[in-house]
Formats: sequence, structure tokens, C-alpha cells
Amino acid sequence: MAVSDETLAQPLEWRDTALWPMLDDLQGNILKGHGRDHTMNHFLRFDSAKIAAVKGQIQAIGTQVTSAIRQLHEAEAFREFGRPGGTNVFFFLSASGYAKLGITPPSGDAFKNGMDSRSLGDPSMSEWETHFQHIDALLIVADDSVTKVANAAAHLTARFQTSGIEIVGVDAGHALRSDPSLNEPKGRGIEHFGYVDGRSQPLLLVDEVQREISLEGEFSGWDPQFGPGDAALVRDPGGKTPDSFGSFLVYRKLEQNVRDFKLREKALAAELGLTGDDDERAGAMVVGRFEDGTPLISAPAATDPNPTPNNFNYDDDPLGLKCPIHAHVRKVNPRVPNDAEQRSHLMPRRGIPFGDPDRDLEDEDSFPTGGVGLLFMAYNKELERQFEVTQQFWANSFDFPNGTAHGADGIMGQGINDDQMWNSEYGEPGEEKPFRFANFVTMRGGGYFFAPSKSFLKTL
Ligand code: HEM
Ligand code: MN
Repeated sequence: MAVSDETLAQPLEWRDTALWPMLDDLQGNILKGHGRDHTMNHFLRFDSAKIAAVKGQIQAIGTQVTSAIRQLHEAEAFREFGRPGGTNVFFFLSASGYAKLGITPPSGDAFKNGMDSRSLGDPSMSEWETHFQHIDALLIVADDSVTKVANAAAHLTARFQTSGIEIVGVDAGHALRSDPSLNEPKGRGIEHFGYVDGRSQPLLLVDEVQREISLEGEFSGWDPQFGPGDAALVRDPGGKTPDSFGSFLVYRKLEQNVRDFKLREKALAAELGLTGDDDERAGAMVVGRFEDGTPLISAPAATDPNPTPNNFNYDDDPLGLKCPIHAHVRKVNPRVPNDAEQRSHLMPRRGIPFGDPDRDLEDEDSFPTGGVGLLFMAYNKELERQFEVTQQFWANSFDFPNGTAHGADGIMGQGINDDQMWNSEYGEPGEEKPFRFANFVTMRGGGYFFAPSKSFLKTL
């Protein structure tokens, strides 16, 4: 094994050619997001009677899968010469997929037993969209044009039907973006409630760390550096090289009721006496950031910051008088400095919105009640430690952390039946009001997958 655990315990210097064999066998999108605006996510079921043909198809896909090294070189060519990279292709197996192929899966109870068997507060599988029920594999095709994605997908899947692979359903992802700016040439990613998303991530590569320092200086408030070996990478038991890695993927289709969320923001503002421009603070108290990304901890009103700040923590606000402890971003990352245990639950998020990306985000009369949302995706080294702790013990729980949180996560909490407590002043104790802000995000289905190494896929 050429790549040591120590190397993987800190952000990777991917330009080190000693790492290239490993990065050549690893799928892209794990160490760094692919950043493409459109995806087609195909949910696949294998015909057990045609497994030889199924394997042939997976081998063919394996040769097309975008490796980490290819993705990184293309990203660099884009930055330096403006040369756009090609279509990205990623492939995943579920536990049942491994079983049908007759191959021992990577170990882990969550992966083995499936998302529907876990205590996540979710609707039962029978209520999920059918294309999430009993799925063996997932094929993701991503690019910056809908047509390119569709063409590549048609090509990749052309022989599926005759080869025992059924496409049970497809989720189409479409990024939502703000106007481009100096630091964000493509515009910032936003989600359907209207908030900047995808800003805070565990950084797994040295060049991403350096870029971050160039944006916001040394990490005085929050250190985003993580080791890929802790946050995402798993040695692939089926890999054929000395350093074959994969990663677990959690996938959740989270539908957003934008109209009711936005009405509830107004109702919360009224309840807290936030009038005029101050009413924007109600939503910021739910999310922990204003719509433009301003962290609520740093200002009582949006400041249109550029870059979007990420070098902060909540140390001077232990009681949540500025930013509620149950605010989404604080709940899922309390940012206690040097708390290695707490940090160990973070994961690289790679989600993309679904639904009409061209709808008028400002037009209150056309806010959708469904049909839009987030295709939440995150890579995990251990699903139980990362995604499941975040969902079950943090977001869904009224108490986390330490019985001081005063409520569940108002964005991603599932099955919430309690009011949160809301401070009516900013930065000082005001009247604490109970108010239920919950259940505007509905889980429509999902699954646990593994992104195997390319050498595994190609030699099935
Ligand atoms: C951050 C929205 C679901 C984990 C954020 C941010 C927004 C947001 C607006 C702030 C941008 C940023 O700091 O990067 C949403 C919406 C969701 C959703 C609308 C559902 C429709 C989830 C789920 C998880 C999650 C299911 C995890 C299981 C996180 C994490 C952060 C974050 C870890 C970064 C927090 C930080 O480090 O400060 N989300 N989210 N989110 N979200 Fe979500
Ligand atoms: Mn608003």
C-alpha cells in the first residue's frame, strides 16, 4: 500500500504524482464536488436471471466513470484556460446490488440493512416514490447543459434494457444560482427556499484549503481541513490496485414546500415582532444564515458579503441569543473549536436541487408547494457516524447539544411535533417564544450506496 493512513489524515496534495495511481482508481466527486449544473440520476434494478449481461454493462460503465484525477486535471484546465471539462459519470451499488452480483459488499450495518430500516424519522419505504424501492445501483451523469447530459445518458444506457438492467426512475438535478461575482464566476449555489447553499464543506484537498485561506485568511474561527481518510474514503474490498478506495453515498430526495415555508417565515417574524427589513431575520434564525449567506452570528441583518463568510464559530453566543442553537447550520455543525469528536460527524455534501431552475424566486404568487427540492447527497466513510448521527441524534432531536438546543432542526428535522424556542431580541435575552417551525421538507425516498473503485467496476 503506497498511500498511508497518515497521508489520508490531512488534506491531499493531489499534484503529488505518487498519489496519481490511487486518484486514478477513485471515482470523482468525492474529494471535491463536480460543480456541474445538471444531472440525471438513474435508479437501476438488475435482473438476477441475466447477471452475466449485467456485469458486462457495469464493466463498460466502469471504463467511462470519471476518476478523481481526471476531474481534478479538468478543473485546473478550466480555472487556468477556461477550458470546460467533459461529461462526468459516477456509478454506485446498493447492498442488494452487491448481493445480486454475488459479491461481498463493503461492511457496515447501515449499508447492509438499508436506509428504510434505520431510525431516521422517515416515512416508510412503501410511501417513497417507487424508483427508490429495492434499487440495486445508481448511475449519475452530470454536465453543464441538459442536452449534453441527456445525450451522454442515452449513450451509456442504450443497452441496459436488453442486458437485464431496468431504469426504474430518473431524478433530474438542476442547480440554482445567484448572479456571478468575482469570487463565484458561476454564481453562488442556492436552494429552493432562497438561501445560499453548499458554502461550508470539509475541505479534503490542499489546493482547496489554500483557496479558502486566500479568501478569508487563516482559520481563526473555523478550520475546514479534514482528512479524506477520516471523512470519506474507505478501502474498496473489491478493488484491484494496491490503493483502491471507494466511499459510501447517502442519497435523499427532499421535497421543499416553498410557499408554506415562506408563509411560516412571515408568521415567525410577526410572532417575534420583527418588522420592516428585520423580518428577514426570522428565516435567518431557522437557517443560521441570511438568504445571501451572511451568518446570523455575525450580524442582525444581511450584509451582502463576498466571499460568503465561513471563518466563524459560536463561542461568544453559548446561549444562542444571536443564532439559535437549533438553527440548521448550527445544529448540523456546532463548530466547537478543537472538538475532534464533534467534527468527526461532518461529511462532504454533494447535493443538487431538483425542479424548475428557471422559476422566479422572488415571485411570491408562484411559490411552489412541491415538485422542487434538494437531491441531498453526501459521501461518508461511516454512514452510522456521519449522516445518521446528524439526522437522528442532532437534527431530529429537541435537545442536542447538551439539552440546551431548545428545539429540533426546522429545515431537515423529520417528524417534528414540538415547538422550538425563539429569542425575540438579537444578542440579548428577550422574550422566549415557543413556535413550531418544521416539516416543510418531505423525504420522498432515498438510499445508501457505495461508490466502488474503477478497477473493481472494470473487472467485475
Ligand atoms: C448547510 C439548506 C438538508 C447538512 C446548509 C445551508 C443551507 C442548507 C441554506 C447553508 C449553506 C452552507 O453553510 O453551506 C438545506 C436544505 C435542506 C438541507 C434546504 C433540505 C431540503 C440537509 C441535510 C443535511 C444537511 C439532510 C445532513 C444530513 C448541512 C451541513 C451544512 C449545511 C453539514 C453546513 C453547516 C456548517 O458547516 O456550518 N444547508 N439543507 N443539510 N447543511 Fe443543509
Ligand atoms: Mn426572506
